[in-house]
Amino acid sequence: MIVVTGATGNIGRSLVGRLLQDGAQVRALTRDPSRAGLPAEAETVRADLTDASGLAPLLGGAEALFLNLAAGGERSAVVVLDAAVKAGVRRVVLNSSVAVTDSPADETNFIARMHAAVERAVRASGLEWTFVRGSNYATNALGWAASIRETGVVRDAHPGAQGVPVHEADLADVAAVALLDRTGAHAGQAYVVTGPEVLTVAEQVAEIGRAVGREVRVERISEDAAAEAIAGPHLPKAAARELIAMFGSTVDRPAWPVSDAVERVTGRPARPFAQWAREHAADFS
Ligand SMILES: NC(=O)c1ccc[n+]([C@@H]2O[C@H](COP(=O)([O-])OP(=O)(O)OC[C@H]3O[C@@H](n4cnc5c(N)ncnc54)[C@H](OP(=O)(O)O)[C@@H]3O)[C@@H](O)[C@H]2O)c1
Repeated sequence: MIVVTGATGNIGRSLVGRLLQDGAQVRALTRDPSRAGLPAEAETVRADLTDASGLAPLLGGAEALFLNLAAGGERSAVVVLDAAVKAGVRRVVLNSSVAVTDSPADETNFIARMHAAVERAVRASGLEWTFVRGSNYATNALGWAASIRETGVVRDAHPGAQGVPVHEADLADVAAVALLDRTGAHAGQAYVVTGPEVLTVAEQVAEIGRAVGREVRVERISEDAAAEAIAGPHLPKAAARELIAMFGSTVDRPAWPVSDAVERVTGRPARPFAQWAREHAADFS
């Protein structure tokens, strides 16, 4: 049995499908099973992971856990991890971030700090572990969807910022291989998982334009306005500012090099952003 946190999310939904295809038994956690729309073959279970009570039955009988900070945040992740140890779970795959570099730089920004803290807890848990350190997610582009649909314009502080957008299905495929770990090769590995090419914000927007068959313009806005637009309950304004400034620093050089982890772990190349844009064209139309 494999327990998937954040099972209705970008990675989780893809991961549940992939694990079922591979013949695994899956327990999919969601706050609302009636709206989850997950395959009937999965055991879909109600769980609000910010509530520490009642975690034991969620993890009982499981061999592996996919832990996603998006499902309740950093604190909940550590509590769930602790419950997994008590329940006898053997292996954890943590959805981490390329921002974690195992250097003092990990203490200098919100994203790295948060993921590094949970990585430390995982290392200390005694479980077998694998980290999936994803680069910028292709799904971040969904944040432009309403604006593209309504105005045909994307407003961004750094149109020339260079990222390596990674498809959620590639993150899920790497996580699935590590969760099943049929070769024993994935314990203790921190995989930096990126897309196959460096693309600027403007280039990503152009790909979306091609996918929907119309021109989409990029309009430059201030860093402050951009931080305001992405701040929210899980991303305080100060952290949003840090993030926008960090994107600014990637205008002159890519944030991260392209990695071959998807191919090494899954045996097939990472999916290009153009494919992601075609698959999500309806979100932007
Ligand atoms: N965006 C990036 O560029 C990036 C890069 C590197 C790493 N990351 C990491 O990836 C994470 C995002 O992964 P994702 O895109 O797959 O997430 P996502 O699509 O936002 O999915 C998160 C899921 O968590 C569930 N959830 C939310 N609150 C919960 C709670 N209190 N208890 C239980 N479940 C809860 C929700 O499902 P229900 O509504 O069904 O409960 C939701 O579908 C980030 O948080 C970050 O840690 C992101």
